[in-house]
Amino acid sequence: MSNQIKIKDKSFEIFIRQELISQRVKDLAEQISSDYTRKELFFIPVLNGAFLFASDLIKEITVPCQVSFIKTASYEGTESSGKVRNLIGISNDLEGKDVVLLDDIVDTGLTMCSVVAEISKLKPASIAIATFLLKPESLQKEIALNYVGFTIPNSFVVGYGLDYEGYGRNLKDIYQIKS
Ligand code: IMP
Ligand code: MG
Repeated sequence: MSNQIKIKDKSFEIFIRQELISQRVKDLAEQISSDYTRKELFFIPVLNGAFLFASDLIKEITVPCQVSFIKTASYEGTESSGKVRNLIGISNDLEGKDVVLLDDIVDTGLTMCSVVAEISKLKPASIAIATFLLKPESLQKEIALNYVGFTIPNSFVVGYGLDYEGYGRNLKDIYQIKS
């Protein structure tokens, strides 16, 4: 394991090591398991970023649960309002389920807000959000985050599912960009 890496034109330094990541993921899984006894727990991880967080977390869940991944696709709308987000892969069987959305990072919060809006239409019993990382300084939306792994400063990170221009998702540790 190295303390410095380079991806394309950018240099990154070690930020959160895998031992700490896995301990925190176990803590979150324990918390979620104890909050969802006697509930219809249904995980919805958001691809691509959440794939490692979701698999590590869900393995540690001790109550019955279902899992279905979604992906957000953004395209420029015809309206001047800008970007419109579509959800791909959404299960139409969420009515009465207690949904927990999983994502790698909440930055501006725009992605999570639009996902929550779409999922709400399917009438789940409840929706909670678990994000591995949160950048509170960049939040633009008021959004209730029920489970947060780590709160981090507003700088770019890669690893553990997070990418820089498509690379770095496979890294076991999380790295922060060098200024
Ligand atoms: P949002 O700004 O909360 O809508 O986040 C949108 C997406 O931006 C996240 O799901 C990530 O895929 C990506 N993102 C935000 N911050 C970072 C970062 O520091 N590294 C890598 N991806 C990021
Ligand atoms: Mg993402």
